[in-house]
Amino acid sequence: MKVLLTGSKGQLGNCFCDRLPAGWQVLATDVDTLDITDLAKVKQQVIEYRPDVIVNAAAYTAVDKAESDQQIATLINEIGPKNLALAANEVGARLVHVSTDYVFDGEANTPYIETAITNPLGVYGKTKLAGEIAVSQIQPDALIIRTAWVFSEYGNNFVKTMLRLGKERDELNVVADQFGCPTYAGDIAVAIIELLKKNADGGIYHFCGDSQVAWNEFAEAIFTSALKMKQLPKSPVVKAIGTEQYPTPARRPKYSVLNCDKIKQQGIALSCWRDRIDAIVRANMQP
Ligand SMILES: NC(=O)c1ccc[n+]([C@@H]2O[C@H](COP(=O)([O-])OP(=O)(O)OC[C@H]3O[C@@H](n4cnc5c(N)ncnc54)[C@H](OP(=O)(O)O)[C@@H]3O)[C@@H](O)[C@H]2O)c1
Repeated sequence: MKVLLTGSKGQLGNCFCDRLPAGWQVLATDVDTLDITDLAKVKQQVIEYRPDVIVNAAAYTAVDKAESDQQIATLINEIGPKNLALAANEVGARLVHVSTDYVFDGEANTPYIETAITNPLGVYGKTKLAGEIAVSQIQPDALIIRTAWVFSEYGNNFVKTMLRLGKERDELNVVADQFGCPTYAGDIAVAIIELLKKNADGGIYHFCGDSQVAWNEFAEAIFTSALKMKQLPKSPVVKAIGTEQYPTPARRPKYSVLNCDKIKQQGIALSCWRDRIDAIVRANMQP
C-alpha cells in the first residue's frame, strides 16, 4: 500500500506515521513540502508518487482564530480536501479525509449518527463541513472520519495544556456544560488503517473515545492520571463554570457526542481514552 499523507507534522499525521503497518510505504508531507491549497502542486505530487491512498491529516484546527481568518480556514479545510479528491481521482487513489463533531450544533441530547442534520455554529465547523461535502461529491467512495476532542503526545492539545497549567496553578476554571468524547489521535490512525485494510465502503464514519465527559471532568481525569503517575505533587482545584463565564470568539456545541455504531460494525472498537491519558502522562514524565 502506497500512502500519501498530508499534515504529517500534526497530531494525527505523526500518530499515523508511528503506526504504519509493515509493508506499507508512506510519503509524509506537510505544508512546507505539500501545501494542499495549491491544486497544481497537489496534482503534480500525486501524479508523480501515484499513491493507492491519500490520507488527509492536514487542517486548519484553530477553532477561535478561524472566526477572524475565514479565508485561510476555507482554503485549508474546504479547498485543500477538494484539491486532494480531484488529484486522487486522476490516479485512481482512494481519499481518506478527517472531519469534526463541530459540524453539529449540539442541540441534540442523544449521540449524533452519521446522517444526523448538520448545522455548524462557527467558521471552523462550516469550513470542515464544506470540505466533507466537496470530497464526497468528487469521490463518493472516499472515507470521511468525523472525530472529536483530539489529544496526543504531539502538538498542542487540552491534555498538554492541563498538564502545564496543573504545575503552575492551584485552581482552574473549566467549562462544565459542553459534552463530548475525548479521542486519542493514535486510535484514529489505527481506525483509518483498519478501514483501509477492510476496504470498507465509502462514506462518513464517526469515531471517538469510549465515553462522554464535560471539559471539567476531562481536566479532572488528566489530573487524576498525573497524580497517579506522581507527575504532580497535588491536583489543582477544578472549578466548574458555565460557557457564559468563559466567552470565546467561536461558539461551540453544548453536546457533540458521536454515535460510533457504524464503525463498530466494521469490527473497529472504541478505546478507553482514560488509559490513553495515562500513557501520555507517563511519556511526558521527566526521566
Ligand atoms: N484537534 C482536535 O481537537 C480535532 C477535533 C475534531 C476533529 N479534528 C480533525 O482531525 C484532523 C487532525 O487534527 P489534528 O489535531 O491532528 O490537527 P493538527 O495537529 O492541527 O495538524 C494539522 C496539520 O496540518 C498542517 N497544515 C496546515 N495547513 C496546511 C496546508 N495548507 N497544507 C498542508 N498541511 C497543512 C498543519 O501545519 P501548521 O501547524 O504549520 O499549520 C499541521 O501540521 C483534522 O482534520 C481536524 O479538523 C481535530
